[in-house]
Amino acid sequence: MADAGVDVVREYDDRSWAEDGLTRAVEDVVESGHVLAFPHLAFALADAERRFLDPRWADGKAKNVSLRWPAGELRGASGEPGDLAALQRMIARYADRSETLALRLFPHYRGQLRRGNTSFRPVDVAGRVRSWRQDDTRLHVDAFPSNPMQGTRLLRVFCNVNPSGAARRWRVGEPFEAHARRYLDAIQRPLPGSAWLMAAAGITKRRRTEYDHLMLQLHDRAKADAEFQRSSPQARVDFAPGTTWVCFSDQVLHAAMGGQHMLEQTFQLDAPHLAQPASAPLAILERLTGRALLSA
Ligand SMILES: [Fe+2]
Repeated sequence: MADAGVDVVREYDDRSWAEDGLTRAVEDVVESGHVLAFPHLAFALADAERRFLDPRWADGKAKNVSLRWPAGELRGASGEPGDLAALQRMIARYADRSETLALRLFPHYRGQLRRGNTSFRPVDVAGRVRSWRQDDTRLHVDAFPSNPMQGTRLLRVFCNVNPSGAARRWRVGEPFEAHARRYLDAIQRPLPGSAWLMAAAGITKRRRTEYDHLMLQLHDRAKADAEFQRSSPQARVDFAPGTTWVCFSDQVLHAAMGGQHMLEQTFQLDAPHLAQPASAPLAILERLTGRALLSA
């Protein structure tokens, strides 16, 4: 399965989340489609917080416990109010640490990085039965049917907080441009008026641009393509407990094969604020198609 040609992980020796930590100004590494891994950057839990490492705190309906910003409202959890407040504080602390880290690693994004949801995933990846489209054990780039990003980037900070030694097991795949070339010729343009209709009907939160249409097609075609999943260039990566990793998940082909107890912070960044906007999926798709993809 593994392919020597896929080598997207770059390791760093940082031991601190704070501003005085080791690594800074590595925008070029993350923007060129690498995963930045920090094997010695654990997110420390207080003794009283270890009880949250249990699937019982997830309410069973949502797949994750999450915080919605700017208020930091807790979603998807069930328990007594005092416990839920403590759980909220733990996840909010992770959001703060992640933001400090991201702004040190990528100072070019300062003032432009928007805090998205923070999620805590206490449920085992392997135990989640899903449709093929929602099956994140298949290689994919992140794209969402109801939530068009309109070119906005998804930067994610993950941390494995598993208490019993279990790694978060990923596969990573080919570079974004190679991936786009694999399917682009087969993708038809959206029907005229369909973006307006989907937004008007509430199917999408905002207009699904042609960029979003292409990203969703890439997501769906990759997941539906068993031959691609089996034999495309890929490598297995295990993130041990105490490891933090960072990537643009709308660019890095990834699949979550297993693991339990992870924290994840999403940041949004508009593509013009990248250090190298030409590295973005939007710019790559516009170059390959020869047309603007955010207009009608
Ligand atoms: Fe994903």
